[in-house]
Amino acid sequence: MTYAAITGWGKCLPPAILTNQDLSAILDTSDEWIVSRTGIRERRISHVSLTDLAEVAARRALAAAGMEGGALDLVVFGTCSHDDQVPNTASGLQARLGAVGAAAYDINTACTSFLYGLSTATALIRTGVVRNALVVGAEVISPFMDWSNRDVAVLFGDGAAAVVLQASEREEGLLAEKLGCYGDAREILRVDGMGCTYANRGVPYGITRWQFEGQEIFRRAVAGMSSACEEALARCGLTAAAIDLLVPHQANLRIIDAVARRAHVPAERVYVNIERYGNMSAATVAVALCEALEEGRVRPGALLLLPGFGGGLTWCAHLVRWGERVQPLGVSDAALPPCERTALQLIRDCRDRKGTAPGRDPRDPWERRSAIV
Ligand code: UT7
Repeated sequence: MTYAAITGWGKCLPPAILTNQDLSAILDTSDEWIVSRTGIRERRISHVSLTDLAEVAARRALAAAGMEGGALDLVVFGTCSHDDQVPNTASGLQARLGAVGAAAYDINTACTSFLYGLSTATALIRTGVVRNALVVGAEVISPFMDWSNRDVAVLFGDGAAAVVLQASEREEGLLAEKLGCYGDAREILRVDGMGCTYANRGVPYGITRWQFEGQEIFRRAVAGMSSACEEALARCGLTAAAIDLLVPHQANLRIIDAVARRAHVPAERVYVNIERYGNMSAATVAVALCEALEEGRVRPGALLLLPGFGGGLTWCAHLVRWGERVQPLGVSDAALPPCERTALQLIRDCRDRKGTAPGRDPRDPWERRSAIV
């Protein structure tokens, strides 16, 4: 029997930090509201492209696995904020890493894209199609954010992480998963202006309008992740008592608490980093997994449960058996170029690049408040 062991991991967070305090200077919000309703204190804003962020994360993951890019047979890029639609983002990363001839595809299930990518790469390894794969979860949401909408602007951040999978005869890596989608409710999380229906919805590409029914998304997130956890465990004949660490999607601390409670996993066995990054969509679980390893929260042979939820509305949970090695084999010197701008200046740049959007009103609070940026 062939398994797909996770042998390398690496993350890349852009250095510019956007605090709740910063947001309260341009939006009608407060640190108190954001922390009490979401658990988020700050998030990162990227000064580079999605592929730039992902490349650094990927090089770090490859170094941790002791592997060269040329050894990869497959690059799976989980994201909903592609640099381009054609050519895809995975092919750009494949070329930069020197993964000559490797298969390369993007996967977009919004916040669950990394986990869905883990499923497809694992399946291709387990069926013998490929032996070595890179799975990326990365997002640069900031250019697509509606920075005048406090309902969503406080929730999201940019970031990237990647893992290397290798064929193994030992029973490790992804053991079981449950994948699902509430397609009937897909309209409650919609970003107009990120796709080709922009013309008939009256929003030019890149100038976004978010439709986001927070409370219903919240309810569906808890329901979807909880049932997926139950089913993934049942597929292996296990209960939550066997879980060493829950590494959930980080969209809201109250969602994480509710999912952990329903899964009967105590708080000390739940990994949380939402306060530092907010919701990085596809990058969220991938970055959390890297940080859990860096902080020594993953012991050799640990059983991890990774529930996720995102636009679509997609949901899932992945049961992963970690291998014996919890230290990287090597360290990459890959790094981002320095960032000369503050996070507030970067979001101001995003807004200016969009030019004159239909409906952009010089009287809106952001227009007036952003004069201070
Ligand atoms: O990864 C994708 C999945 N995304 C999610 O899972 C997100 C799920 N939803 C949530 O996390 C929460 O629903 C939110 C954090 C988005 C909202 O929290 P909530 O407790 O559901 O708040 P609410 O939408 O019921 O709003 C309560 C109040 C409203 O004011 P009124 O009508 O009571 O006067 C909002 O207008 O809070 C107001 N509000 C804000 N106030 C200050 C909404 N956003 C803000 C804000 N700052 N940023």
